[in-house]
Amino acid sequence: MPSSIVILGTGSCAPTKIVSNHDLAKVVDTSDEWIVTRTGIRERHIAGQHEPTSELAARAASAAIADARLTAADIDLVVLATVTPDMPMPSTACAVQRKLGISERAMCFDLNAACTGFLYALDVARSLMAAGHHRHALVIGAEKLSSFLDWQDRSTCVLFGDGAGAVVLGQASEPGRGILGCYLGAEGVDPSLLCIPGGGCLHPASAHSVEHRQHYVKMKGREIFKMAVRVMAGAAREILEQHGLTADQITWVIPHQANLRIIETLAKDLALPLDRFIINLDRYGNTSSASIPIALDEARRAGRIHPGEISLLVAFGGGLTYGSALIRW
Ligand code: UT7
Repeated sequence: MPSSIVILGTGSCAPTKIVSNHDLAKVVDTSDEWIVTRTGIRERHIAGQHEPTSELAARAASAAIADARLTAADIDLVVLATVTPDMPMPSTACAVQRKLGISERAMCFDLNAACTGFLYALDVARSLMAAGHHRHALVIGAEKLSSFLDWQDRSTCVLFGDGAGAVVLGQASEPGRGILGCYLGAEGVDPSLLCIPGGGCLHPASAHSVEHRQHYVKMKGREIFKMAVRVMAGAAREILEQHGLTADQITWVIPHQANLRIIETLAKDLALPLDRFIINLDRYGNTSSASIPIALDEARRAGRIHPGEISLLVAFGGGLTYGSALIRW
């Protein structure tokens, strides 16, 4: 009987178009200096008109399948985390299935837990696999946030970017390796902290919703910042405690890439130096559910992750959702 769910391969996709802070300063009243000082972000990738979320997801997934030395025919579960689906229905996961030629016997669905989405998807996929229903799962975080940004609102449009990351999960009979555990939760206290209010059944698309710019991301940045710092540290500490580990046993922390100041505060809280954190937000901005799998894929491909090491993944997002996961390579 297989005893571990392991990551067999990773992949990511960043659209080719790069928009720098200087480019944005020509569009809204902002500056490179403000964005770098407050967030650490220098540039982000922005997808083109013919690059929907499913396209970014399919490219990342295809790279992950190749990295796992498998083919699309081997995949029997697709869990895709996104807040920016191609359309409300059908799921973006089904579009990825179609694009990659994944078997019609595969279970394919989307999951929305905002920026914590990838960790939620990882836990759902590994639980389904542990129940014995699936052999190879594709877990994807993919976003085209640029379609949902108000390019007149400097408080949000400078923060986000587009991209996708994916992992292929498989089973191994090596206890103590792979996904050691996940810890997930949500504080659904105040949707107005971070939301896209329009387009759902509460505020369906109408002339009024368009006029009031309800189809764009709205955020109370300062409040989210304070909650983020608290829940990231809580999620990190909780999972370490659950597994009897201390922070210094973690080789890499791979945090959600929202703001360098949030990551620095987490580093202080865990008493770890910042060089134990995988950080790429300077080049991507916040790609929501794609941020952790992109960072993970970049780190693996750069040879920064080695067998036997333990990585701590930790995220927060709209909802407010939060979560952490431990992986032994
Ligand atoms: O995945 C979850 C996504 N959300 C987050 O991670 C957000 C977490 N929050 C943050 O990262 C930070 O709160 C922000 C980066 C969003 C904002 O940083 P802050 O230090 O909290 O700034 P602030 O919102 O308190 O705004 C400070 C000033 C304001 O001007 P006044 O009122 O002091 O005159 C803003 O109007 O900065 C102004 N401001 C800007 N100035 C130049 C806001 N956005 C900009 C901008 N360029 N892009």
